[in-house]
Amino acid sequence: MRTPERTFPADFTFGVATSAYQVEGGIENDWAEWERAGRLKEPHARCGRAVDHWSRYEEDYRLATAVGATAFRISLEWARIEPERGRFDEAALEGYRERLLKMKAHGLTPVVTLHHFTHPTWFHRETPWHQPESVEVFRRYSRRCAALLEGLDARVITFNEPMVLLLGGYLQGAIPPGIADGALTMKALENLVRAHVVARREVGERLGRVETGISQNMLAFAPDRWWNPLDRALVRLGGQAYNHAFHEALSTGKLRVNMPGVATTRVDIPEARDSAEFVGVNYYSRAHLRFVPRPPFIEFKYRDTQGRGLTDIGWEDWPEGFLQTLRDVKRYGKPVWITENGIDDRSGTRRPQYLHTHLAQVLAARAEGVDVQGYLYWSLLDNFEWLEGWGPRFGLYHVDFDTLERRPTPACDYFRQVATGRKLVAPL
Ligand code: FCB
Repeated sequence: MRTPERTFPADFTFGVATSAYQVEGGIENDWAEWERAGRLKEPHARCGRAVDHWSRYEEDYRLATAVGATAFRISLEWARIEPERGRFDEAALEGYRERLLKMKAHGLTPVVTLHHFTHPTWFHRETPWHQPESVEVFRRYSRRCAALLEGLDARVITFNEPMVLLLGGYLQGAIPPGIADGALTMKALENLVRAHVVARREVGERLGRVETGISQNMLAFAPDRWWNPLDRALVRLGGQAYNHAFHEALSTGKLRVNMPGVATTRVDIPEARDSAEFVGVNYYSRAHLRFVPRPPFIEFKYRDTQGRGLTDIGWEDWPEGFLQTLRDVKRYGKPVWITENGIDDRSGTRRPQYLHTHLAQVLAARAEGVDVQGYLYWSLLDNFEWLEGWGPRFGLYHVDFDTLERRPTPACDYFRQVATGRKLVAPL
């Protein structure tokens, strides 16, 4: 007899995730500028044609259905759609509409992200996130995006990992727009919450009932020295700010960040109250936090505590943290979607096991009453990994970056087996 904990119900969704800049190719935006300025880890690396998904989309939809996926997460590239402020490119909009219709015809439900890290080049110069006009500019863009989604029954993600954008782009200055200022970070955070609210409203006005939310990068945090009260305080305050401040604002209308000496804010945004239909979780790893007695007071590291070996990108493989994270989002009382989870595994040999252990945590969370409804693997294909460039390989399909040929990794079979059989078997 089947034990219920080993099976996924028929209405549980298995899908795959991508983002425009990382796969489409031929995009001119703030990241392309960043690359030309030599700001990637490998200063000569370029995203360029990426993996040419813009031309090969039909092949990629077939690859997704071949592994049993019934949902496909993409993002819309703002720089394609609005190359100059207020000028919308009709051909780009039609191009996306055509692709979304084809996706649907392939039996894939679109999960559409409006903003996945990148911006048109004019944005940071004219209406950056720390200025209130950014909200209106995003609202207008979202209105055009909403029109693309008519009749598709799509799920909408307004922002991908807003805290990663803010931490990297506004606090550390490591990614565009390269600002390093705690006060501006908090202004930008507030405007991102407001931008989510107005975008959701646009989507709702155009499409009626539609599930809208955000994708939040959620880390399991641990004190670097378990006995050290300052490390433990960092875990508490940092975990709250990084993992929960945004979700909480969309739930309660209260935006609270309390990281003394780094960034703090306390703003009420009543219109943000109950402004998401689902909680989107991107889970990858666990980080250890250590207090250091000089700004920014936090040292952040991945450690191989279990002797499983770090992943190729250097992250701890820590499935246990996935369950913890899912338990933690139960407090929002909404359905949960895993909008990303995956491993950089350049040999392709570790991925089936990674899938197995992480999906087991999803089942464990469901057994505890967390309403997880979908799992989107990051990523369908190897792609351009931001500051890391072309090193990492997260794809279910291996991509030869010279010929762009896609080849299945061993995880394809495993994913298909689970997604279609609905039973969590161990990989061979
Ligand atoms: C997430 C990003 C995604 C990809 C994965 C590996 O933080 O949302 O674009 O880079 O990490």
